[in-house]
This record gives sequence, structure tokens and C-alpha cells, in this order.
Amino acid sequence: MAILTIILLVSTAFALGDTMIRPKTPCEVARDAVPHGLVGAYIPTCDAAGQYTPEQCWGSTGYCWCVNSSGQKIPGTETPPGTARIICSTQNGAIRPKTPCEDARDAVPHGPIGAYIPTCDAAGQYTPKQCWGSTGYCWCVNSSGQKIPGTESPPGTARIICSTQNGMIRPKTPVRLLEILR
Ligand SMILES: *[C@@H]1O[C@H](CO)[C@@H](O)[C@H](O)[C@H]1NC(C)=O
Ligand SMILES: *[C@@H]1O[C@H](CO)[C@@H](O)[C@H](O)[C@H]1NC(C)=O
Repeated sequence: MAILTIILLVSTAFALGDTMIRPKTPCEVARDAVPHGLVGAYIPTCDAAGQYTPEQCWGSTGYCWCVNSSGQKIPGTETPPGTARIICSTQNGAIRPKTPCEDARDAVPHGPIGAYIPTCDAAGQYTPKQCWGSTGYCWCVNSSGQKIPGTESPPGTARIICSTQNGMIRPKTPVRLLEILR
């Protein structure tokens, strides 16, 4: 019985392994064709599935642009570093303006350690809970990203949940509270 179990486990592992092997996608072929050490070259960015990410950037210049699923630049979307006003959507070729949260997030200069960087969800809205990475302090915000008074708490001490409803907060349930007190 034990041997049979081992055989089953091993064959399952091989079956899983088989499904992970796939041919390179066009994005991966293009990416891997760039010679190593070629300074200043544009290297395509592919996602985990090997597809072109909607936003592509030219590392050495900081220029970014949106592409469609074929990796072709969408006219009018190229922007110099730090000036992008648009988000390249995950829908093929769709673009949308940046939200206030994304504007605020991207306006934080790269480099300075310890700056508060707003967290935006996939739709570009402020997540209800914001944290200051370098200090671990967290607080709840409303949909404008404004702190809700009395919600700021040091690392590991938060007794409230920032709800997804605008500005709503509620106490943690007893089980969650125990996690903190332990
Ligand atoms: C991507 O854009 C190029 C150039 O505009 C176009 O020829 C191609 O059909 C597009 N591919 C898709 C999948 O939309
Ligand atoms: C967010 O909070 C600020 C400050 O309390 C307030 O001025 C603003 O109107 C609020 N925004 C929303 C959408 O509730």
C-alpha cells in the first residue's frame, strides 16, 4: 500500500511537471533574443504566462508606453519618466487616465527612504487601509485618501478593520483580536 502511494505521488508529480512545460511565447522569444550585456537595449517585459505586460518601459531611458497583446506600441501612449498620465489596462490595448491615488503614488520621488507611498487597488482607488511602510503605522482612509481621525495604530496593535465602504470602520471580531493579544 505504501509503495502504491509513493508510485501515485511520483506519477502525479510528473504529470504536474508536464503541464508546466510550454513553448516560449513571442514575448519571451523577443525578450530572450536581446543579447546579455547590451547596454541601453529595450527588453520586453513578459508576465508569468509569457504575455506582454500592458505597460512596457525602456529601462535605460525610463520611457514607458502601452502595448496591445502583440506587443505593438499603442500610438500616443509613450511618456517620459515620471510624467505618465495614463494606466495601461490589462484589457487588450485599453488605456485609462490615472486616478488621484495613482497620481499621488507615482509622484513620490524614487529613492528617499521612509516616504509614505499611497496604496491603490487595481482600479486605482485608495485601499481603505493605508500604511507607512518604514514605520509600520497603519490607518483607515476615505475614498479621497484622507485619514479617518482616530484610526492610526502602531504596528501589530490595530483593533479595527478598515472596511471597503467609504470611511467605514468596525472593531475586529474576537478571534482576530486574539491574534493581536497573543
Ligand atoms: C496590435 O497592434 C498592431 C499595430 O497597430 C496591429 O497590427 C495588430 O493587429 C494588433 N494586435 C492585436 C492582437 O490587437
Ligand atoms: C474625506 O475626508 C475629508 C477630510 O475629513 C473630507 O473633506 C472629504 O470630503 C472626504 N471625502 C469623501 C469622499 O468622503
